[in-house]
Formats: sequence, C-alpha cells, structure tokens
Amino acid sequence: MSLKITVRSVLPSRETGDLIVVGVPSQGGTSKKKNARSPLDGFDRALGGALGRLQRKEEFKGKKDQQLSITTLGRGVKADRLVVIGLGDLAKLSPWDLRTFAAKAARSANGDKAKRLVLGIPAGLEDRLREIAEGLELGAYRFTKYMTGDRKPKAELGQVTICVLGDVPKDAKDRVELGQTIANGVNLARDLSNEPPNVLYPDVLAAAAQAAAKEAGLKIQVFDFKEVVKRGMSLLQAVGQGSAHKPCMAHLSWTPPGGKATRRIVFVGKGITFDSGGLSIKPAAGMGEMKHDMSGAANVVGLMSIIGHLKPNVEVHGIFAAAENMPDGASYRPGDVWGSLDGKSVEIINTDAEGRLILADALAYARALEPDLLVDNATLTGACVVGLGNGCSGWYASNEATADEFQASVKSTGELMWRLPLLDDLKDQLKSDCADLKHTGDRYGGSFSAALFLRGFIGGVANWVHCDIAGPAMGDRVRGWDPKAGTGHGVLTFFDLVEKSAARGGPPIAPLAAASAAPAESKPAAASAPKKAARARKK
Ligand code: BES
Ligand code: MN
Ligand code: ZN
Repeated sequence: MSLKITVRSVLPSRETGDLIVVGVPSQGGTSKKKNARSPLDGFDRALGGALGRLQRKEEFKGKKDQQLSITTLGRGVKADRLVVIGLGDLAKLSPWDLRTFAAKAARSANGDKAKRLVLGIPAGLEDRLREIAEGLELGAYRFTKYMTGDRKPKAELGQVTICVLGDVPKDAKDRVELGQTIANGVNLARDLSNEPPNVLYPDVLAAAAQAAAKEAGLKIQVFDFKEVVKRGMSLLQAVGQGSAHKPCMAHLSWTPPGGKATRRIVFVGKGITFDSGGLSIKPAAGMGEMKHDMSGAANVVGLMSIIGHLKPNVEVHGIFAAAENMPDGASYRPGDVWGSLDGKSVEIINTDAEGRLILADALAYARALEPDLLVDNATLTGACVVGLGNGCSGWYASNEATADEFQASVKSTGELMWRLPLLDDLKDQLKSDCADLKHTGDRYGGSFSAALFLRGFIGGVANWVHCDIAGPAMGDRVRGWDPKAGTGHGVLTFFDLVEKSAARGGPPIAPLAAASAAPAESKPAAASAPKKAARARKK
C-alpha cells in the first residue's frame, strides 16, 4: 500500500500529526546563513525551552546521524513526539544519506504506532523530494503478512506531510509520485523475496510476475516445465527436476509504442525459490535464508513493474528462470553431464552451484533478444559475501564503457555495489575432462569463477553486467533504507540505468525479428548432452 504524501509550505511546529521528525543541517554547514529559517523554528518556545536544554545536554550539533527525541505530551505542539535528526553538511548529503534519513523517519513512525508523520526538511532539499519519497516508502516497508494476534502491528504509517520552508516547488507532486512508484517496485521485490518457500514455488513466482505484468501493462510469456524441456533449457531442467514443484521461465517486456525505443536493455534474474543445495546438501545452519535465493528474479519483477508504470522510451525485457533446488531420487547429481540452451555440455560438480546453471540458460535465451545492454543479477556465491560483507554486492562488466555506465548509476543511487574483475587467470578452473566445461572452480575466487562461467553463455552480446547480490539481497540487519531480510537491493540502480538511457535519446533501434525472440525455434532441437554426443560419434 502506498503512503499518502503531501508537500506543504508550513513550519513543522504548526502541523498536526502523531510524530514529527525534523532534519537539521550541522552548524557551519554550507547552507547555514545568518537569520536563516530553520525547520525547528517554534518548537523550543512551544516546549517551554525543553528542546534547547536537550540540545545542549546532548551536544546536538546537527552532525550526521545525531538524533534527539522529545515526548511532547501534546503540549504546545500537535504531535506526541518530536524526533530531530542531524543531516550534517547539506552540500555533502548523498543519495544514501537522504534516503536513509527519510527511511528513519518512516521507521520511527511505524515504531511509534504513528499513522500520521510530519517531516520537516531544511531549505535546500526541496528539489530532492523524489529521494525523500523513495526513502519514506522504503523505510515504511514491513513484511507482516503472516503475523496474527499480538504480533500483528496495531497501526501503520499511512500519511506523511513534508514541510518545506520556502514555496512548494511546482513539480513537487510529480517528484513525490515518481519516488513512490520506484520505491513500490523495490517493495514488490522485497515482498516476493520474503515469501516463505512453502508458499512461493517456481510457478507461484511466475504467477506473481503475471499479476505484476497485468497491473503494470507489460507483456509476459511464461514457459512451463514442458516448454522448458522442449526448448532445450536443459540446465534449468536439471536443477529443477528433483523438486515436486517444477521449474519454469518467465519473460516480461515493455516496448514503447510507435517504434520509438532508442535502446534495448535486458535484465535477467536467478529465481531459486529454495536452495537446499540439492544432493550436495547445505549444512542446516542458515539454510532457511535460502528462501531469498530468488531475489534476482524478484528484482526483475519489481523493476519491470516500475518500467510498466513509468513507460520510458527504452525497450526493456525482464527474464527469470525459476526452480527449487532439492535432494530427491529424481535430482540431478554431481558427475552428470547436461546440455544447455547454448549448446555447450556442462559437467556437474556440485549441485549447490545451481544458480549459474539456470542463469546460463536464461542468458542464452536473453542474448537472442540482441540487447544493447544485458544485466543479470543473482544471489550467486557465498564467496562474494566473504569478500564484500553482507551489505555490498559485487558486479562485473564485459568492457570499460559498460563499467563506466553502470558505475554512474551506482553513484546516482548510492547502493553499495563494488566492481570486481573478470579474472581470465581463473578460466582454466572450468575445464572438464568429460564435457565442454564444468560449472565450478576452486574455493578461492569463487565469485570470479562463477562470473567467468556465466560469461561463456552471453554469446555475442558486447555489453554485459553481472551482479552478485548474495549478501545484500538478504539483509542481516536494518541498513540505510533497507530492512532486515528481503531488500530489493539492485532495483534502484537497474532502474537508474533505464532512466539514464531514456534521457540519452538517440535514433530508434531496429525492432526485434520475431524469430530471434524465440531462440529454440530458430535453433536445432533441445541440445541435451547425450544427443549431442551421439551426433558427434556419427560424424
Ligand atoms: N545461493 C547460494 C549462494 C549464497 C550463499 C547466497 C550465501 C546467499 C548467501 C548458491 O547457490 C551457492 O550455494 N553457491 C555455492 C557455490 C559453490 C558450491 C561453488 C557457494 O557459494 O558456496
Ligand atoms: Mn546453491
Ligand atoms: Zn543458490
């Protein structure tokens, strides 16, 4: 559910709500002019000097992350509590800082059972209402669907008044709405990621994508298990066949009307609805977290829903492969050799390295769309979490221009994403004695060798980015605007790529040839390894 956000030119101390949160810059910050108005004006007098006393006692200077809280008992102001948050130097206030500030305010409101929040911002932030609205929606997010009785929250934030000191900017409403639409897409990704694995099976994820596509006005195709096998997506088949809930693939798309698209971007996500490890079963500790192993696919759905609502002048495709990785008599095994949609045969080493297998088929499918830019995201390796910690994802780019483009979007959104190298030195680790390649390398550099494996399936696509979101997709704690558990990490940056592409303009792209959208029809039959081997023997 979306918040009702309004922007008003009024002092927060005059506004009615259940909680008032005010952001103040540090003293000596660049915005501090003599006699400048402050969003705190009126509070000290209304509270009988209590605010000033507390500020002095706590040595509150508006430094970043300093915080004060005063219970007003409704005296002098029309709210139960006032929270003051330091913003530091406004000139240095990054997208991360601003979104985090707004998220904190929304989180405090929910914590206080406050339904109405008054948010005071200092002069100079009026043109950043989009980030503030994003932060509010993202911070207000809670996953409470399965709570009953006392565990069910009694109240939830529904209404926010953003108080600006000067005039309300003309485009305030549009900016707020844009921020909310984007954040709602992230929240959709979080919802899907948080669903328990006994509810969200591969076909349920596909159905959720269908519902989102319908709501946002997108095209969608879903390939069920039969179709997956028929099309030759043998690696997806292999990973998913041990589960009672069979794998599938989904393809959502947005084509701007009138053949005016200037670029085609394809996003791909890993949708393992539960990763037990399969026959190479994981240890019990932490296995439950593997319900989030479909976060890459959830991000694709969340992102595409934003695209559907905002209708950019860019052709955007969202593809995910979904499967459940389970041990069973019908499971794929270490030692197996499987074909792939690409045609290459793959020796299975460890059934817990399932993500790169289903992504390989999804990438081979995606490349037939001839993308100008191909971006995949996946909770792919524990090694990436070991390297970068829980809060930061690792990304790889196929060339420097693409890396620059991706980095520009990372910088704009402030998401914690760090570039990692496609280290050719590790390539030999993927050599197999009995197939074209094997799917895992050594323990060391595990995120790098996974990226190299994926690179083998992008064909002639020049501009490719792979994001390993294993850590931040499943938050171990509240971080910035992200809650614990499902975060939707990556969606903001992916959307920024689309937005910047739309802003860039340029000549229209050639429309897709019908045949290339359906790779299996334009290629020889299902490339299952035994058939291919038989063909080779006949030669
Ligand atoms: N889904 C996991 C990766 C993961 C680990 C995500 C921790 C989030 C947190 C992936 O399928 C996996 O199991 N990878 C293995 C690969 C290994 C067997 C080569 C890993 O990283 O241990
Ligand atoms: Mn795994
Ligand atoms: Zn996995």
